[in-house]
Amino acid sequence: MTSTVQRLGIDVRPLSGHTGAEIHGVDLSQQLDDATIAEIRSALLRWKVVFFRDQSIGHAEQIAFGARFGKITPAHPHEDAPPEGFPQILPIDSRRYEKKFGKRKITYDNGWHTDVTALVNPPAGSILRADIVPPYGGDTAWTNLVAAYQGLPEELRAFADGLRAKHSFSPRLLAGTPYGEKIASNPLLAIHPVVRVHPETGERALFVSPTFTSGENEIIGFSTRQSHRILDLFYEQIARPEYTVRFRWSPGDVAFWDNRATAHLGPSDLNHLDFDRVLYRITLEGDIPVGVDGRQSELVAGQPFLAD
Ligand code: SIN
Repeated sequence: MTSTVQRLGIDVRPLSGHTGAEIHGVDLSQQLDDATIAEIRSALLRWKVVFFRDQSIGHAEQIAFGARFGKITPAHPHEDAPPEGFPQILPIDSRRYEKKFGKRKITYDNGWHTDVTALVNPPAGSILRADIVPPYGGDTAWTNLVAAYQGLPEELRAFADGLRAKHSFSPRLLAGTPYGEKIASNPLLAIHPVVRVHPETGERALFVSPTFTSGENEIIGFSTRQSHRILDLFYEQIARPEYTVRFRWSPGDVAFWDNRATAHLGPSDLNHLDFDRVLYRITLEGDIPVGVDGRQSELVAGQPFLAD
């Protein structure tokens, strides 16, 4: 990283009606001044995910950029092979997944999810940088959980406001894989409000995370069958195309999302093809979610996930 402080004025170009904007006029290899960081933060809070095209940065610059927005956590509660010297970097590397999951996969999770909501304090934000991208396919989609909440009928919003749900890594999805065994040996379970109040904007977000809210009796006080029916309704809502944006990666592209107000969907269109796809993710330490009634999430198993 150079010591030059860059101040160019950012150019925010929305990509869809509710979600996602490209930010131009920023070189992430440079040290950015406080005003530029504040503008990026404001675009992030408005658009929930922002994209920087064609950046020339490595692990160190990615971490330095993220550190302007919060504390950087270790790579992931279950990651044991981050790049040497960079314990904060989670490689999302298709070349590793056959061994890890017992089958070829282009990314590690093919369902809509908010990052690591099995934690009592899921990351506040995630920053993902593309290194190797396939010649076609492999796109990522994000959805705006605030817009999804606002789009519900009033009566359903009021119903959701009072619910709490269990979030965990689903042993069912991972059973029999080396990764599943690792997760079983360090189980994480948190109870979060189904509607969380964003700590910076005060907005309400429909905080369901299908990969993590997929066990039994997930909604507190309801049976498994009732929970699934209620959750299906919310899952359908967050996946409605009008709340989403889809991003086509090129090497050097960087996505930065507000993990308190979005869910995302990694690709599954290339699991049958022999392409490599390598991206690197860091996460910002998160706060404990708070519901509409002011109650915080509860830790059931595991530890808060904190920066070292
Ligand atoms: C992620 O879920 O953090 C990665 C998404 C992707 O592989 O596109």
